[in-house]
Amino acid sequence: MIADRKDDHVRHAVNHRRNHSGGNDFDSVAFVHHALAGIDSADVRLGVDFAGKHWNSPLYVNAMTGGSTNTGEINRQLAVAARETGVPIASGSMSAYFRDPAVAGTFRVLREENPHGFVLANVNANATLDQVHSAIDLLEADALQIHVNSVQEVVMPEGDRAFAGWPRRIEEIVAGVPVPVIVKEVGFGLSRQTVTWLREAGVAVADVGGRGGTNFARIENDRRAGADFAFIEQWGQSTAACLLDCTGITGIDISASGGIRSPLDMARALALGAKATGVAGAFLETLVDHGTEALVAKITTWLDQLRNIMTVLGATTPAELTGRDVLVTGDLAGFCALRGID
Ligand code: FNR
Repeated sequence: MIADRKDDHVRHAVNHRRNHSGGNDFDSVAFVHHALAGIDSADVRLGVDFAGKHWNSPLYVNAMTGGSTNTGEINRQLAVAARETGVPIASGSMSAYFRDPAVAGTFRVLREENPHGFVLANVNANATLDQVHSAIDLLEADALQIHVNSVQEVVMPEGDRAFAGWPRRIEEIVAGVPVPVIVKEVGFGLSRQTVTWLREAGVAVADVGGRGGTNFARIENDRRAGADFAFIEQWGQSTAACLLDCTGITGIDISASGGIRSPLDMARALALGAKATGVAGAFLETLVDHGTEALVAKITTWLDQLRNIMTVLGATTPAELTGRDVLVTGDLAGFCALRGID
């Protein structure tokens, strides 16, 4: 049942975070410190123009859940945190709603709790135009996310095995909806080739959704006894690698998600070319373990600290972080060498 799967995803995602060492490729990205580069904190502006609107900061709560009683309550609490901090929020995949309209409330709560906020609907790349319209209508969504998650699907015995129609469907959706479209991976990364294709298809934002945080291959393997797909847990490119791979691509905005653990990771992602950063697992863990107020405090602190980092680096806007001096080391430097990235 979809509802059980949604509950399992939350449980395993949070458990993995509790037991995970937490290292990822962002640890291989260091800012060069220039002691006289600093500016006045009062001159820092965190706002960005993104996905068709002005956002107060380059941060959003990424797609997670909905479709069961428990995940409806999680969505309610996430929406309250988004409202209190002014950050945009995405729903989890709305396939459950397409199959059973009775679960509409578990998604609709994102808008009810956050009537003036920026809300994103989330669908898979098989969704029909009618389904996409109903998802956007239900949430009065400001933008649409389409997730492309072939790796997650093949790890699930009950998952999809037909991906050839995705590019065509993405084109149809882009042409047929009244809001900006974001295409996102769920933790295995978008390559330069994929992002370039998305740009040609008219997609507004590519959320690279790379490796380094929530790992859906691991989650799906852990959901069933005797799963033999462990090798695929290392699949894909890290978020930092994806951003470097996309260096210089114009005509489509890039956002970064997958393994953003801190305001420093946000700054690193912005320096590597992201215009905004999305967080799922780190916020879910705080919410489940410590509640809504703790999540509000965490988001507030992250934004304060991002401002401090920008002050030290001399960046008045998130866009000015792009191109700041960074050192790239370790396997990530090897990736750059292999891909011919300077
Ligand atoms: C997700 N994610 C996700 N993405 C999506 O597009 N549709 C979905 O329904 C879900 N569901 C979902 C459930 C749970 C419990 C988690 C933690 C995540 C993926 C999410 O948006 C993001 O791409 C990845 O989690 C990587 O980011 P983090 O978690 O490393 O910050």
